[in-house]
Amino acid sequence: MAQKIQPVEKLLAEACQAYEKRFKGKPKLAARAPGRVNLIGEHTDYNGGFVFPMALPMVTVIVGTPTTSGKCRIETLSNSADNPTYAEFHIADLKKGAPKWCNYVKGVCAQMSGKVPSFDAVIVSSVPLGGGVSSSAALEVAIYKFLEQMEGVTADIPLIQKILKCQKAEHEFAGMPCGIMDQYISMTGREGHALLLDCRSEQGRLVPLTDPNVVVLLVNSNVKHELTGSEYPLRKQQCQDAAKILSVASLRDATEAALEAKKSALDEETYRRVRHVISEIKRTDEAATALENGDYQTFGRLMVESHNSLRDDYEVSCKELDQLVEFAMQMKGEGVFGSRMTGGGFGGCTVTLLETRSIEKVIEYIDTKYKAVGNKATFFVCPPSEGAKKITL
Ligand code: ADP
Ligand code: GAL
Repeated sequence: MAQKIQPVEKLLAEACQAYEKRFKGKPKLAARAPGRVNLIGEHTDYNGGFVFPMALPMVTVIVGTPTTSGKCRIETLSNSADNPTYAEFHIADLKKGAPKWCNYVKGVCAQMSGKVPSFDAVIVSSVPLGGGVSSSAALEVAIYKFLEQMEGVTADIPLIQKILKCQKAEHEFAGMPCGIMDQYISMTGREGHALLLDCRSEQGRLVPLTDPNVVVLLVNSNVKHELTGSEYPLRKQQCQDAAKILSVASLRDATEAALEAKKSALDEETYRRVRHVISEIKRTDEAATALENGDYQTFGRLMVESHNSLRDDYEVSCKELDQLVEFAMQMKGEGVFGSRMTGGGFGGCTVTLLETRSIEKVIEYIDTKYKAVGNKATFFVCPPSEGAKKITL
């Protein structure tokens, strides 16, 4: 069975209740930001390529109140965050430390324009943590939308600057050199739409995804391999080195012909990495057009090609993700169009596009098969949802 996704109102009530318990009194400000699923276009954002994400109905909510003490006090209600789940820090002395989860909060505080006051706050989330659907970006963007409501903070800056600040928070305080996709979609997602984002121009094109006959199914493999942290920067570096060899600013500007011409100048592994990036950028552009035309068969085929390329050429998949994709595709005859790993890889989630009529059957099938190989998956049916917002209390 698919998981029931908590409505925002419920999360908000939970956060307010926890706030009152810990800090006495009621919170004055609140904000929310969603996680994301990327439909196609993986490991292309930091290469200036296309990505095609949508915002999820799962969100992170923060409630709180500015204070004058200079000391920030903050609690997360998530039991998957590292301990302690309550932390304090001085707004005038922002530095990385323990617990790790609080670094995302400090990182955003450090990026705000103007003067950020201290605050008391509670965070609650329905986004699975560390599941490859960007709970970290949801947290950063929610914090941003919370802080920008405060007196002293400069709120009136272009949207792209806000997005870049959240991304920088992750680079500097979480040590993860991510691309721009996650923060962009969490900040700007639109209900009923996926977003074709050109990461070179930083311009997006909204693509409607409202056909009642198709659904997006997110399947959490519930595994996270430790490789995630070390392999991501390595891939990024390989791409940058290859771009230099190919004499282009980024792999976005590389072509298959140029890659073949320079094949002997690249080691075999780098050659495959570049082949993934070039082909994935092309697939993503084609996939967005296919979706616009209601051509789900083509979209699904491109999803599977993307997965295979991530598995074989980019080598960021893992056994469990490959199994989930394989099981999903065994239901092709039952209305599954396509399936692939989504996000950074080495665990986390797969995304599957399928006919609405088959949803229960497909979930049951994947669930049974995945259990038979000793694993337990979690299923979410995800309508494309809205981006970050201030919540008026
Ligand atoms: P992903 O962003 O794909 O979920 P990451 O490993 O990049 O995975 O980020 C997950 C981390 O972000 C968590 O381990 C935690 O430190 C932090 N985080 C995300 N959401 C929350 C939350 N609601 N409360 C506390 N920490 C959070
Ligand atoms: C994520 C990262 C994104 C993107 C993605 C792979 O973990 O935050 O910026 O690079 O991996 O497509």
